[in-house]
Amino acid sequence: MTSRQIDEHRRSLADPEGFWREAAVAIDWERRWDKLLDDSDAPFYRWFRGGRLNTCWNALDRHVENGRADQCALIYDSPMTGTVKRFSYRALRDEVAKLAGALQSLGVTRGDRVLIYMPMVPETVMAFLACARIGAVHSVVFGGFAAPELAARIDDAKPKVILAGSCGIEPGRIVAYKPLLDQAIELAQHKPGATVVLQRPQHPCALVAGRDHDWHELVGKATPADCVMVEATDPLYILYTSGTTGQPKGIVRDNGGHAVALQWSMENIYGVKPGEVFFAASDVGWVVGHSYIVYAPLLCGCTTVLFEGKPVGTPDAGAYWRVIAEHGVTALFTAPTAFRAIRRDDPDGTFIRQYDLSKFRTLFLAGERADPATVQWAEHHLQRPVIDHWWQTETGWPVSANCVGLGVQPVKHGSATRVVPGYDLQVLGPDNAAVKPGEIGALCMKLPLPPGCSPTLWQADARYIQAYLTDYPGYYSTADAGFIDEDGYVFVMTRTDDIINVAGHRLSTGAMEEVLSAHPDVAECAVIGVADALKGQVPLGLLVLKAGAKTGHATVAEDVVALVRARIGPVASFKLAMVVKRLPKTRSGKTLRGTMRAIADGETYKVPATIDDPAVLDEITDYLRSVGLAKAKL
Ligand code: COA
Ligand code: AMP
Repeated sequence: MTSRQIDEHRRSLADPEGFWREAAVAIDWERRWDKLLDDSDAPFYRWFRGGRLNTCWNALDRHVENGRADQCALIYDSPMTGTVKRFSYRALRDEVAKLAGALQSLGVTRGDRVLIYMPMVPETVMAFLACARIGAVHSVVFGGFAAPELAARIDDAKPKVILAGSCGIEPGRIVAYKPLLDQAIELAQHKPGATVVLQRPQHPCALVAGRDHDWHELVGKATPADCVMVEATDPLYILYTSGTTGQPKGIVRDNGGHAVALQWSMENIYGVKPGEVFFAASDVGWVVGHSYIVYAPLLCGCTTVLFEGKPVGTPDAGAYWRVIAEHGVTALFTAPTAFRAIRRDDPDGTFIRQYDLSKFRTLFLAGERADPATVQWAEHHLQRPVIDHWWQTETGWPVSANCVGLGVQPVKHGSATRVVPGYDLQVLGPDNAAVKPGEIGALCMKLPLPPGCSPTLWQADARYIQAYLTDYPGYYSTADAGFIDEDGYVFVMTRTDDIINVAGHRLSTGAMEEVLSAHPDVAECAVIGVADALKGQVPLGLLVLKAGAKTGHATVAEDVVALVRARIGPVASFKLAMVVKRLPKTRSGKTLRGTMRAIADGETYKVPATIDDPAVLDEITDYLRSVGLAKAKL
C-alpha cells in the first residue's frame, strides 16, 4: 500500500478545519461546536469551541451501548504480584461510575482538581476515567517522585481530593507511597479536603482519621454517577513536566481536541482497529501512559494492556513477548531504553523466538532518540516494522511518525519519519527563517497547533508564552533541534535547553542544580547529562565547595546524591557527583557545559580558546575515567 501520509498532511494544512471536522465525526458530541477553531484570543487557540461532550462517555459508555459491552477493555498484567485481571467495557464502566459517585460524595464537581498518586493497578485507570466522568480535572503524579515534588504539584493544582495507593512495587523493594503522601501534604500550603487510599495487600498503611478514606469502603457505599457533559475546551487533565527550573510546568489537556486527535491517531498513526489489543509499556504517570495506556485505546474501542513490570528482570527479558503472546497484542509502544535493556540481557533474541507473536504487527518507540543500533537489532529479531516517532508531553500525540495506518513508509534509521498531519513543522535558524533541507536548526511548529496539544500551562498563560512562543514569533518552539532531509524525513538530534532524557524520562538539570546548591558546603555547581549505554543519558553533578568547607569531598558527593533522591526522587537516577576546584568557564563566566559533556561522552573535543583555566578539564577527565567514562582530546 502506498502511503497517504504526505497527501493527508498537505490536506490538513490546506484546510485544517475541514480535516478536523471530518475526524470529529468519530466522537460522540452532546452539542456540536460553534467554532471549530477559535482564534479570537490568539496565540491561545481553542478547538471545537462551544462543543459539549464527555470523554468517559466516549471511552466507555458508548462502546457498551454499541455492542462492545462484553469485549475486554482492560487487561491488568502484573508479574510483580503474579496477577492477570480482565475487565470488560461494561465492568470497567460500572467500576468507574461507582468511583465517580464516591468522588461526588466527597464534594468533587466539574472543574475541581483530583490528584492521583498511584501505581500501575486497574484502579488507577478507573481514577482517570472517574474524574473525566464527572468533569473533574485529574493530575497524575508519577510514583518515582519524592515528597517535595509531590508537594509542588499539590500547591499548583490545588486538588480537592487525592487518590493514592498504599504502595508501589519495584523489583526487590516496596515503595511505601503513604509516608511520601503524608509528608507532601505536610509540606504543601494547600491541604486537600480528603484522600482516598487503595490498600494493597503487599503493604497496607495506617489511615489518618477524618482525612483518609478507605477506597473500597467509600466506593462500596457510593451511588454510581452518570456522565457530566463538559465544554470541549474544559480541561480534562493537568500533567506536570520538567521545565528549565525546579518549578514544573502544568501541561493542560482539553476534552474535545484531545478526544478527536487521539482517536484519529489510533487508526491513522498506529494502524490499530477497534477490537484489537494495544500494549503501551510505559507508566500512567507519563504522557505516554495518559494517551496510549488509558485514553486512546479506549476511545478507539480497543483492549489496552496495563503492565506492572519491567522489560527485564520480571522475571526475564521475555516479559514483553509473553504479554504479547498471551493477550494477542497487535502493537507495542515503549521507549528505546527498554529495548536496550532487553538486548543487553538477551542479545541473541532467544526469548523472542519462544513466544507466538503471530498477532503482533508493529513496534513503536518514543520518549528519546531511537539509536540506529537498537532499532536494527529489534528489526532483525522481530522481522516487523520498528517505528521511531517523536512527540512531547505538550503535544500529547506524535508530531513526526511513520503513520502505519496511512500506509507504512520505508524506515530511515535515526529518523522519526515524516511530520504527522495537523502539524506545520519547520526547522528554523536564529533569524526565524527556515533553513535548507539537511541543515540543523530549531524544530518549531507554526501556530496554531492541531487539536490535542496543550493550549496553555495551568493558570500560567504568561509562562506558556515565554517558554514556547517567544523565541520564534508565530511558532511553538519544541526546544528540540534537528533537521528535515530532502525526502522530508525528520531527524530529532538534541534538546536546546537544560532538559536531559534519562531512561525515556524527561528531567531538568536546572532542578537538580537547585538541590545541589542547597547543600551548605556547595558554592557552585553544574549538572550535565552524560551518555549512558542503557539509559541514554544520566546526570552528572560537578560541585565547587565553599572556601573552608570542612566536609570531605566524598562525603559531600554522597550527600548530594542522597539529597536529589530525597527532594526529586529515585527517578532522577542521580548517582554521579564529583568535587572540582572550579567549573570550566569562558572568560566571560559562561559554564562550558558542551565541553564537559563531550569529555564525559568520550567524544573528541577541542579545548576552547576562550576557557579561563584549561587545567580544570584534566581534573574532570580524571574523575570521569575513574567512574568508567572516557575522554578523547584534540
Ligand atoms: N515508583 C517508585 N520508584 C520508581 C518508579 C515508580 N513508579 N519507577 C522507577 N522508580 C525508581 C526505580 O526503582 C529506580 O530506583 P533505584 O535507583 O533505587 O534503582 C529509579 O527510580 C530509576 O528508575 P529507572 O530509570 O526506571 O531505572 P531502572 O534501572 O530501575 O530500570 C529500565 C531501567 C530500562 C528497565 C527502565 O528504565 C524501564 O523499564 N524503562 C522503560 C521506559 C519507560 O517506561 N519510559 C517511559 C516513557 S515511554
Ligand atoms: P516527554 O515530554 O517526557 O515526552 O519528553 C519529550 C522529549 O523527549 C522531546 O522533546 C525530545 O527531546 C525527546 N523525545 C521524545 N521522543 C523522541 C524521539 N522519537 N526522538 C528523539 N527525541 C525524542
